[in-house]
Amino acid sequence: MIILGVADNHDAGAALVQDGQLLAACSQERFDRKKGSGAFPWAAIDAALDTGGVKARDVDRVVFGTAFTPSTLLRRFPALHHNRKAEGGQFDPLLSAYIAYQVALRRTGLHAVEVEASQRLLAHRLQERGFPKAQVVMMDHHEAHAHAAYRAQPHSTALILTVDAMGDGLSATAWVGQVGQLNRHWAQSGLAAVNTFYSRITEWLGFTALRHEGKVTGLAAYAEPPPELLEHMAERLRFVSPGFNRLSPFLVETKDSPFYRALGEFRREEVAAAAQRTLEDAVTAFVAYWVERTGVADVAVAGGAFANVKLNQRIAALPQVRSLFVTPHMGDGGLALGAALGAAGAPPEARVRLDWGPRYTKSQISRELHIARLTAVSGVDAVEHAASLLARGKTVARFAGGMEFGPRALGNRSILVRPDLPEVNDRLNGQLKRTEFMPFAPICAAENAPRLFVGLEKTPLSARHMTVCCDCTEELRRLAPGVVHVDGTARPQLVDANESPRLHRLLRRFEELTGVPALINTSFNMHEEPIVCSPFDAIRAWRAAKLDALMLDDVIVERDR
Ligand SMILES: [Fe+2]
Repeated sequence: MIILGVADNHDAGAALVQDGQLLAACSQERFDRKKGSGAFPWAAIDAALDTGGVKARDVDRVVFGTAFTPSTLLRRFPALHHNRKAEGGQFDPLLSAYIAYQVALRRTGLHAVEVEASQRLLAHRLQERGFPKAQVVMMDHHEAHAHAAYRAQPHSTALILTVDAMGDGLSATAWVGQVGQLNRHWAQSGLAAVNTFYSRITEWLGFTALRHEGKVTGLAAYAEPPPELLEHMAERLRFVSPGFNRLSPFLVETKDSPFYRALGEFRREEVAAAAQRTLEDAVTAFVAYWVERTGVADVAVAGGAFANVKLNQRIAALPQVRSLFVTPHMGDGGLALGAALGAAGAPPEARVRLDWGPRYTKSQISRELHIARLTAVSGVDAVEHAASLLARGKTVARFAGGMEFGPRALGNRSILVRPDLPEVNDRLNGQLKRTEFMPFAPICAAENAPRLFVGLEKTPLSARHMTVCCDCTEELRRLAPGVVHVDGTARPQLVDANESPRLHRLLRRFEELTGVPALINTSFNMHEEPIVCSPFDAIRAWRAAKLDALMLDDVIVERDR
């Protein structure tokens, strides 16, 4: 049985599963080079089929993990698509109207009619594109999130929680996974729109909502939240058993409303800190409640709320939680994966490596180098050479193997830099046009973790995926200050020798040369562009950012040679 999972709204993508085995997963943005692309993901579908070695005609089932409720109207007229409307911003009345519309659809039962109409439309579209036998199935938004969480972690019995802004008329759900089955215990109306709270603060602070929420989290570390501001924000978001407060009137507020005007009395850092604490307090109370109610302490989470690495740190620290797994592609980009794994009934499994995207052959890489008039450094071992360049404070872009699925670059499409030279950090910030208050993240050999980080015991998998923050030891602060945030935390990626031997060797070799047990790992992309996918993208981004060296699998090129 060959199953193709597809998400066809914002952050669209595709995933391929054959007989319960995941063959490929990738996002549309990597191919059309538009961040969070909401185009119908034909390029991602083609790439997933190609990577998995499967022909369209052999696909048995196409499962849509729907985003923002399937709407025939929106699918027929892409200009009305959610991501287009969201360009009006989080305060756009159209966005609020859309949330209310989806909630109403679900309440009145018209949701099912919409689903059926969408299914017919999509079946027709796929038939035309050469999927002759594929049966088209629609999977509910939060169900697809829940499957992505449950089936990418190892516990047969797990509590699955999803929290986002709104998908298919819902904002949050609670499930228990048991022996391969998911049972939904509870769901909350989309009028809670939990993430909308944080996205609006993001926009109020002058950042781009649905893209720069992480900057609010970074900024939050520079201030303590003023108590009166916390009280004020709790009006907008708080835990109300068994979920969150439903405050639909806030959806029609503008930036000029008294609530947002009052924020102007405080410093930006204080507003960010209060928003962060408000989100953390509400969601941790929610998680603690559901662990106690179900008696299941192994928790897996999905949905855009869990893109927040500091929130995840607080959840992991809850005494009620035994283990926490954060779905690597936690936002709507992960729906294609959830749809495919869920429809296949794939058993829960620790999915450590995420390199499920396209990989390129030696000859493809050679051809791109030739076209770009670049010559590989000859007679060197690329890993050894890269380690010595890094030791000399050079910036090295690493392109290797399959492209990772999800928002983080985990070494295969990463820029690596020495973390103990402030001038190198500053130069990198300038080259990549990064925000200087945002911390860089560390990558290090897994066996070094106990002496560098505190509190990762409950998040062994998520520490591989850079989806959780933790406190740093004195040793890391001393040896690698460039990867420690102002509040003494970091968002690490641990690399196992068996899983990624070449990357692991690079880290260890760098440590031998310098005594520094970590490198900076930042995503390999041009400013505001998606992470690179192909060797062509890699060479282009490497040149534009004026980085010193580029590794392409086992060859390395240098800018000055
Ligand atoms: Fe979602």
